[in-house]
Amino acid sequence: MKKYLLSLVALVANVRGHTNHSFPANFIFGAATASYQVEGAWNHEGKGVNIWDTLTHDHPDFMTDLSNGDIAANSYFKYKEDVQLLKKIGANFYRFSVSWSRILPTGQTNVINQAGVDYYNNLINELLANGIEPMVTIFHWDLPQPLQDLGGMTNKFIVDIFVDYARVLFVHFGDRVKWWITFNEPAVFSIGYTTARGFAPSVNAPGIGNYLAVHSILLAHAKTYHMYRREFWAKQQGNMSLALNSRWFEPKTNSTEDVQSAQRAIQFYLGLYAHPIFSQEGDYPKLVKDRIAQKSLDEGFFRSRLPKFTKEQISHIRGTFDFFGLNHYTTSLTTVGNTENQGPSLEADVWAQRLFDRSWKETGDPSRKVVPWGFRKLLNWIKNEYNNPPVFITENGVSDPTEFNDTLRIHYYTHYLNEMLNAMFQDGCNVIGYAAWSLIDNFEWNSGYTQRFGLFHVNFTDPERTRTAKESSRVYAEIIRTRQIPA
Ligand code: NOJ
Repeated sequence: MKKYLLSLVALVANVRGHTNHSFPANFIFGAATASYQVEGAWNHEGKGVNIWDTLTHDHPDFMTDLSNGDIAANSYFKYKEDVQLLKKIGANFYRFSVSWSRILPTGQTNVINQAGVDYYNNLINELLANGIEPMVTIFHWDLPQPLQDLGGMTNKFIVDIFVDYARVLFVHFGDRVKWWITFNEPAVFSIGYTTARGFAPSVNAPGIGNYLAVHSILLAHAKTYHMYRREFWAKQQGNMSLALNSRWFEPKTNSTEDVQSAQRAIQFYLGLYAHPIFSQEGDYPKLVKDRIAQKSLDEGFFRSRLPKFTKEQISHIRGTFDFFGLNHYTTSLTTVGNTENQGPSLEADVWAQRLFDRSWKETGDPSRKVVPWGFRKLLNWIKNEYNNPPVFITENGVSDPTEFNDTLRIHYYTHYLNEMLNAMFQDGCNVIGYAAWSLIDNFEWNSGYTQRFGLFHVNFTDPERTRTAKESSRVYAEIIRTRQIPA
């Protein structure tokens, strides 16, 4: 009888689309931020200038509200309060990034800024004292300006310079940090090397910048991974990966053309970065290589615009991960069309930007809709394409303009987490952790402060940058506490 009742409950729950599964005991929850978006203190205590300082100061008009991250959420001074917010929600970990120029003002290791080292030591110690594990992103887009002046990611030397920088972090913080993310969203960061439309470093070189930046980032990631294994792993035993972003791309219709456009989209936007690291054979995806080579030929070039890895480089990059870091927000419909010069995907010929089904729920960001089932499909795609790696959701969240009673965000989190559980329990996807983006409202790049992603509200007109709990923070806390999603 009991068994019958249980399956009836399960059936009803399923009909309503609500899962009755619980999160496994070892599953970890947290929240994420990034240095430029929250810290402020842009010129305090020896910090050097980075490309977002430069862009926001030289071209305020590139930001919707003409703003910058000079003060942002003031977390440089309020980190203890941030840790208390994490404690309030019962977070197991905090994903934050290190501001490269706060530690190395010139970008290179000739000068180490002790005040910067102290700041991150204090933050890490405060987290651990409150039972929260640090997850550190080494690079979340705020490249030191002196390095950009030498070509940034398009100059080969960035590989060794990045490794030097990462080593400084392992030396100073590696005894306490067990989760490392080398690069955040290389696909988005590379847009800065593709168009001058306002994303730092805002270099308008679609023919050169895009694939060169990708190439260096992959080599820098792999070299850092091997260096860590060789020099630090025996003592520190941390986990390392990078955070790759992807939407789910759903064909607009089931025509062959649309279905193929969706396959191209995911290979150009995600496979380009993931295949060299996570696939069995390594290297860029064949579909991407062939298409770029053909397109280059068509335009009268004899060599492909996509740089080639040597055999040694292919095996050097392959397998440099302990988990798959995934940032996911939304789903688009795809069809054949212009890529609108979006990042390193000029040759994809996919129209996916702002192409949505009318029935999908709006968010505070016109380029994103609420499509929870897309999350489940993406997790399945990763499972099938890369042999079911452990996946860590390094970001997921929504822009909701409502200041305190943020029902859209509550809807978003409960539905996305529900689909994640379905992916785990019904499809066998191996998801091991989840970070909500974001802990607090912050500087949303070109949108400035016009978009709010926080579980906690920040008052940006108040010099104190007062934080206040939104309703979603209470719901998230409840999910973490009960390990279940409220029906
Ligand atoms: C991706 C980025 O990593 C983060 O910096 C950004 O604020 C969020 N997504 C929201 O768009």
